[in-house]
Amino acid sequence: MIKEELVEYAIRAREKSYSPYSNFKVGAALLTSDDSVFEGANIENASYPLSMCAERVAMFNAYMSGVEYDDIVALAVVADTDTPVAPCGACRQVMAELLPRNTIIYLANLKGEIKECSIDELLPYSFSGDDL
Ligand code: THU
Repeated sequence: MIKEELVEYAIRAREKSYSPYSNFKVGAALLTSDDSVFEGANIENASYPLSMCAERVAMFNAYMSGVEYDDIVALAVVADTDTPVAPCGACRQVMAELLPRNTIIYLANLKGEIKECSIDELLPYSFSGDDL
């Protein structure tokens, strides 16, 4: 699947965002080696810290659907930002644990800009289970 197609999935997932407090909709789409796509959108709560980011919803959705670590190929994230959206620190930490190191992360916006990066670029010198 080409990156533009995966970003399209993320754009469609973004429409499912429940974000009445921030009005900032984020969509995500996780791609597996058999070309399956697992979507996520940010889901907020009146108790703000309980809100969940789109990227984590997509990763948890994939794992709950039976996807295994080694099946994961790419993750696209999109928001209506001036430059390709930057994932929050919490999502970077979860990506570092749940996605294989060579997963391609596509950061996108609604202007069609797509930035490609790796988990190590997003979260260098990361904390992991090996540190425990
Ligand atoms: N948000 C995401 O979904 N992903 C990110 O990486 C950044 C932030 C959401 C959380 C909240 O619902 C809204 O964007 C504003 O912070």
